[in-house]
Amino acid sequence: MKPKLIIGNWKMNTSFDEAQDLIIGIIEALESVTLETGVVLCPPALYLEIATDHADDSDLFNVGAQNCSEYDNGAYTGEISARMLASIGVDFCIVGHSERRKYFNESNETIAKKVNQLLQFGIVPVVCCGETREERKAGHHCEAVEKQLAEALFQLPKEHFEQAVIAYEPVWAIGTGETASPQQAQEMHAFIRNLIEKKFGTETAYNSYILYGGSCNAQNAVELFSQNDVDGGLIGGASLKADDFVAIIEAGETAIREN
Ligand code: 13P
Repeated sequence: MKPKLIIGNWKMNTSFDEAQDLIIGIIEALESVTLETGVVLCPPALYLEIATDHADDSDLFNVGAQNCSEYDNGAYTGEISARMLASIGVDFCIVGHSERRKYFNESNETIAKKVNQLLQFGIVPVVCCGETREERKAGHHCEAVEKQLAEALFQLPKEHFEQAVIAYEPVWAIGTGETASPQQAQEMHAFIRNLIEKKFGTETAYNSYILYGGSCNAQNAVELFSQNDVDGGLIGGASLKADDFVAIIEAGETAIREN
């Protein structure tokens, strides 16, 4: 098994002081352990710069944004570009999260443009996909995910595709406490890896990171991360408490040791 990657998506949570305390709490816990697992913190945009400062000083984690503009620069009031993110040392950026698809009408086409922007500035796009409850009930979950990936990510040339990370987040599992079972996660992750293999070949498929997200916590993380095709997690609620988040990182280490 390759080393896991654990990304904390704080969403629209924390005050400035809380954000600082959380970063410091995570650093203090990680200082005493040697990790193979990669760790990325995605705080709200306003706190990215303090996060990158701490990341530079501690060398224990990388920093990701939660979104970026589809445009390069110019008159787009309120937007933050990939260029700006790169200029303060942001290394990752979540794109196409189901909350952005739902509340901000983000289409696969927009997501593809954001991916292009990020790659242009050397930022790793963490591209989210996942079916709704209705799609799963109808047995269309694989088709739904295939369409999202085909339109948002698979248009890339192989050398660019290889820079991206995929996060499978079933919409019905996000923030609900209803996690996908390890078997459901494995089935979808294997399906995604198979799509990658058909499009880009075996080596690219093997090396690709496919993370699971949706009510992942310290209790269920080891079993999820022990599945062959689950390369780590995109963690929401449980990334907002240092102890819980660090326990999930430790679950990543345990999964590698035991498999
Ligand atoms: P929860 O872990 O809170 O379910 O959120 C998952 C998520 O949306 C991460 O991006």
